[in-house]
Amino acid sequence: MQGLRDLLQQTQQRGVAIGHFNISDLVLLKAVVAAARELDVPVIVGASQGERDFMGVHEIAALVKSLREESGVSIFLNADHTHSLAKAEEAAKAGFDAVVFDLSALPIEENVRQTKEAVVALKAIHPPILIEGEIGDIGTGSEIHETMIDVSKGLTTPEEAKQFVAATGIDILAPAVGNMHGMSASMVRGEARKHLDIERIAEIKKATRVPLTLHGGSGTEGDDFRKAIAAGINIVHINTELRVAWRESLEASLGKQPGEVVPYKILPPVIEAVKEVVLSRLRLFNGEGLAAQRVELESAAE
Ligand code: G3H
Ligand code: ZN
Repeated sequence: MQGLRDLLQQTQQRGVAIGHFNISDLVLLKAVVAAARELDVPVIVGASQGERDFMGVHEIAALVKSLREESGVSIFLNADHTHSLAKAEEAAKAGFDAVVFDLSALPIEENVRQTKEAVVALKAIHPPILIEGEIGDIGTGSEIHETMIDVSKGLTTPEEAKQFVAATGIDILAPAVGNMHGMSASMVRGEARKHLDIERIAEIKKATRVPLTLHGGSGTEGDDFRKAIAAGINIVHINTELRVAWRESLEASLGKQPGEVVPYKILPPVIEAVKEVVLSRLRLFNGEGLAAQRVELESAAE
């Protein structure tokens, strides 16, 4: 399987992005892999600290390794939102392909100091591992929020991004560009959408020249995704949309089969429902409508 570093370079050249989907059980993992397999595209499986604590770091690594071998799909494994070096080291030792070392809640000087140390320590454990650093405020929690944070307050500036990348030696940067974790109830109903600061993404890309990740993808306007990828986003994280599909389809399946207690009869419709969400996002990230978007941006720049 091609390495994640090379793949990121290729996505940049091809003007597409890699979909990153969080999992916290086998149903979600099966759905993500089935969708990537159907479209024959690479995918990143993400597990945050909480998701890893629930499933087990080594258990997730073993499942992904086995699915990778069996499916033939390029499946990468990311230790998402990791807040301590000890937890990041645990993932590096388990063979994860990437770590999001997220100290964005700390003052920037402390974030720089500890991220720089983590880059050295993690690469000493597992040299091919890619380290993603995060600056700015994109909120916490891939869940349904009663009130969404004011994203305009913690936006990343191109200058700050440039300094952070140079000072830490990270491989990938996660900026705050209008994105935020989770969804509002109106987003779940499809009545509201997240919008991104496309110009800021382009400026951060120009200033840093490193792969960029867009966190908090759930509920984002489709055209904003396309423009963000054309402006330099290489990885897009989706979690809440999968969790919503998981819960709604589980309730529906239980409702349709009252009295049923057999998990392998209750859960297949849940896998299908989550897979549909992953499929539609993967189609978009891997090209659907992207060429038209690039032409539009190029002609606007002329
Ligand atoms: O790291 C996970 C993501 O950033 C997911 O955000 O729940 O808004 O899709 P989301
Ligand atoms: Zn995130």
